[in-house]
Amino acid sequence: MENIPLHVGLIMDGNGRWAKKRLMPRSLGHNAGMNRVVSLAEHAQKRGIKYLTVYALSSENLARPKEELEGLFNLFRKYFSENVKKLYGQNAAVKIIGDMQGLPHDVAKLLAEGEANSPKEATFCMVFAINYGSRKEIVRAAKLAAESGEEITEKTLEKYLYTGGIPNPDLIIRTGGEIRLSNFLLYQAAYSELYFTDVLFPDFTEKEFDKALKEFSRRDRRFGRV
Ligand code: IPE
Ligand code: IPE
Ligand code: MG
Repeated sequence: MENIPLHVGLIMDGNGRWAKKRLMPRSLGHNAGMNRVVSLAEHAQKRGIKYLTVYALSSENLARPKEELEGLFNLFRKYFSENVKKLYGQNAAVKIIGDMQGLPHDVAKLLAEGEANSPKEATFCMVFAINYGSRKEIVRAAKLAAESGEEITEKTLEKYLYTGGIPNPDLIIRTGGEIRLSNFLLYQAAYSELYFTDVLFPDFTEKEFDKALKEFSRRDRRFGRV
């Protein structure tokens, strides 16, 4: 496949509806979604993508019922104590973006360890957006930039975003049928190609991922030029 994006953002939506269709609790949808992430990370790396950012929990999602949130936190606990080693084995680094202070203490600690224990010479980076919201990220970056006393330019602001040092996403995929960004990488997505699919995230296979890559390879990115 030619013209592979360097960085892909993935809004993993539709877990709840996937479970509902099967008369199962939403938590089982999230569980199925997590299994997809594990496979897709390996696949993305195989395709030559260097950064995969997955939207796992928005800052707005924290208003969901306690029971659903506890299920999600348990999944993070499981992922970051077991599956993360598989990533390391593939020479992949982990990065977390979002507000760790709003998370249960042990979860925040596991996420920080997941990041810190990453291989140093990684060839792939898996970015997890957890308790992440773009507006909060931009406000935080503006404050940090102002406090630093530096002149506020695009460059300084970008340095203080959670994504500082990570290239902008070339392609953003959203599963689950909604045509919106839901507070995901708003600043960074200025020139991202957007791909929306009705496929619910637990059904978003490697084949579906490849369809998005194929569509991306056909796009003409002009960045305002002629
Ligand atoms: C996305 O799936 C995962 C999270 C937001 C945590 P949803 O839970 O939003 O699934 P739907 O949109 O209700 O189907
Ligand atoms: C976006 O999905 C957040 C994640 C996939 C983590 P939501 O289900 O929260 O988005 P809305 O509420 O439909 O916009
Ligand atoms: Mg949703």
